Amino acid sequence: MKKIILLGYMGCGKSTIANKLSNCIEIPFVDLDKKIEEKANLSINAIFEKHGEIYFRKLEHQLFVELLNSPETLIIGLGGGTPCYANNHELLKEKGVVAIYLKASIDTLFNRLSLNKSKRPLIADKNDSEMKEFIAIHLFERSFYYNQAQYKVVVDDKTIDEVVEDIITILA
Ligand code: S3P
Repeated sequence: MKKIILLGYMGCGKSTIANKLSNCIEIPFVDLDKKIEEKANLSINAIFEKHGEIYFRKLEHQLFVELLNSPETLIIGLGGGTPCYANNHELLKEKGVVAIYLKASIDTLFNRLSLNKSKRPLIADKNDSEMKEFIAIHLFERSFYYNQAQYKVVVDDKTIDEVVEDIITILA
């Protein structure tokens, strides 16, 4: 069965877009971060604090594989780091997988993340100038993995509906 995967940096809008897309095309949406939180019975922040990032990445990989192997057609929203660890980027190319990179500029990501960083352990303690530099470097490092996606949708200056329309066109 088909898996539609939305990926991209923190703050690119994966969950918001996936929710709207799910309503439009009537395919259930599963948020990988939520799956991880349910499995660990802890928030993402608490998992990082209590068990560390390596534990988080193992769980992330395990649950991503489980979702890919599930018999249902699903929209899966990845975490920003998912494609960059445990060879997860190779899984994006599997049969039946449609992977879409939601591409946002550094400025877009900075503007969105500066309003909403407390639940994101990688940036929670950074001030504005540290965060801008962090995003620039991190996005550059991660781009190789994000670009493994079959499709790319630029999200800068687009409404949620416009991005969803772009995705529906890809899927048609
Ligand atoms: C992460 C992104 C987060 C979450 C975790 C690590 C990352 O997901 O998986 O905090 O490495 O970029 P969002 O992209 O949904 O914020």
